[in-house]
Amino acid sequence: MIRKLALSSGLSLLALAAPAAARECVTSPAKVLELCVSVEGGEARYEVRRGDVTVIAPSRLGLSFAGESDPRFTALGEAKRSAADTIWEQPWGEQRVIRDNHSELSVKLAGDTPLNNSVGVTFRLFDDGFGFRYDYAGISAGQAIAVTADRTQFRTVGAYQAWWYEGLGQERDEYLYKQTDARRITLAETPLTLKGDNGLYLSFHEAALVDFPSMLLEGNGAGTYNAWLMPWPDGVLAKKTGPFTTPWRTVLVGETPGALADSRITLNLNEPNKLPDIAKWFKPGKYVGIWWEMHLEKSTWGSGPAHGANTSNVKRYIDFAAANGFDGVLVEGWNVGWDGDWIANGDKFSFTTAYPDFDLPDIARYGKAKGVKLIGHHETGGAIENYARQLDAGLKLYADNGVSLIKTGYVRHSGTIADAAGGLQWFAGQYAVDHHLDVVKRAAKLRIAINTHEPVKDTGLRRTWPNWVSREGARGQEFNAWGNPTNPPEHMTILPFTRLLAGPMDFTPGIFDIARGGKELTRRVQSTLATQLAEYVVVYSPIQMAADLPENYAARPDAFRFIRDVPADWEVSRTLQSAIGDYVVVARQERGGGDWYLGAIGDEEARGLSQRLDFLAPGKRYEAQIYADGPGADYRTNPGALAISKRVVTNADSLDLAMAPGGGVAVRFMLLND
Ligand code: NOJ
Ligand code: CA
Repeated sequence: MIRKLALSSGLSLLALAAPAAARECVTSPAKVLELCVSVEGGEARYEVRRGDVTVIAPSRLGLSFAGESDPRFTALGEAKRSAADTIWEQPWGEQRVIRDNHSELSVKLAGDTPLNNSVGVTFRLFDDGFGFRYDYAGISAGQAIAVTADRTQFRTVGAYQAWWYEGLGQERDEYLYKQTDARRITLAETPLTLKGDNGLYLSFHEAALVDFPSMLLEGNGAGTYNAWLMPWPDGVLAKKTGPFTTPWRTVLVGETPGALADSRITLNLNEPNKLPDIAKWFKPGKYVGIWWEMHLEKSTWGSGPAHGANTSNVKRYIDFAAANGFDGVLVEGWNVGWDGDWIANGDKFSFTTAYPDFDLPDIARYGKAKGVKLIGHHETGGAIENYARQLDAGLKLYADNGVSLIKTGYVRHSGTIADAAGGLQWFAGQYAVDHHLDVVKRAAKLRIAINTHEPVKDTGLRRTWPNWVSREGARGQEFNAWGNPTNPPEHMTILPFTRLLAGPMDFTPGIFDIARGGKELTRRVQSTLATQLAEYVVVYSPIQMAADLPENYAARPDAFRFIRDVPADWEVSRTLQSAIGDYVVVARQERGGGDWYLGAIGDEEARGLSQRLDFLAPGKRYEAQIYADGPGADYRTNPGALAISKRVVTNADSLDLAMAPGGGVAVRFMLLND
């Protein structure tokens, strides 16, 4: 049988010498998941079960290449198994110590085309999900190849709901999520999260997206999701030279949405830290900035009488930051290029020439004397070629002035980024993926951290490049200034189980002037004040902005106290209660301290939840400083009503979390040293 297949298909000698079973299986460390891979009828397939439940029905594996037909796989050879149970530490993060406990199965697939004649597939099974990647180790070094199809499938069985938005929209990933029957998915971005009638939650994504296009998922109307890679202008999906490996395709599997949020699989599937000295030059922290005032049209990015980034205004923000314990001041609109239609004319941006009313060295000196760092800004308008040409000079200018964190931006309609050859690129195809990592690597050389807006989605690369500290990549607070409509309350209860599964988000919480003089509900922030505070705990980022204007914080010192207190770096993070689209409760322990913080956010319904405090350290007393929705609070009519109370608690207590419509609760549990 094997001999016959070999003759008709060019099966490799290796597989001939060591005939293998047609099916290989592996279980996760606690035997929660079982994955089997097989070759049958010309296809290589994998399938995954969780107890009696089929998570993934037999689903196709493999890539196709230019110059070859789609491969027919003829045999499964050379299976290797291993297991690992290790811990490693994040230099900063939502959790300091991460456990990597997985079983691994590597197989070789023998295909009938030259480039597919020996394809390695490595599966890693964790108890809360799995990942797999392809390894084309057999392709000769330096051989140029073009990937023309990713044939990977994820076939689900039974009924699922999905939270998703249409991929390839002009605003990239800045869309509201819709909840539908998962069979209605056309083309979805990942993380793509599903809830099954079988009681399982699944989230499809990828890890370690390096030098490859971003993967979306295309539904077939019947529960199968096919990998769909963002192509180059010529239609090729990925341009590689042999040998190469692909990013990991991942599926998180849990019984609650919180299990997805607390999974560390994405990080575990990335390579270890390449910047061992990162802690010396990047420290998590909070910042303010010349930002919201432009979004409110109180000042301008461009030059003129209302130019926001003028030296005296920057110094005003530095004073405010110094007085209130913030580490940095972001300044947007400091450099030449903003005048006129900057999105259409991104190639006019200079990253070394400041507007005349912005004195960079003077500002840097002033900030240094006050212990506040300037946070840089590089808006590219998606003109990547223009930015890449100036990148080293732009980074150096900032480095010379003590800047160690830069926010980048790529505002441009998806699919319209001009490359060097004049081709139009997607925002997350291989070209953009390569560009973003190049920026991060060059910045690392100058000890600069990067916070990308309009980014390629996060796939856990912060483990390898911990100077890639945060990203946007969803509808953030800016939409609450000018979005039509602005973000509805349920947005904050969906993000933790969709976009935030990918990694940190620079959401920029903390708007206190919610009603903005009685603006229409769907044209202003749709939350209560307590929710704005809870966002600092619910949305993880090692850099957290206090996004509102200094005068609005001055008007609410009671609420502002929480923003001053809340840290941006954590020892442990846990999602305590969760229902996607309804509510979320998260607790995090401060890194390097004994305090805990809790954030609860609900949707547009009023809701009461009882929360056990069993996460607190046993035998300790804490002062719970509770920032809750006040009497009559309602995001529509009375968003600013806040009730602040204190009580002493232990881990044997419970706390009632009463949330108004659009409301939330923020709590600091201050460890009492008695
Ligand atoms: C979009 C970013 O998300 C926002 O934060 C920034 O202010 C503008 N672009 C201008 O760069
Ligand atoms: Ca944006």
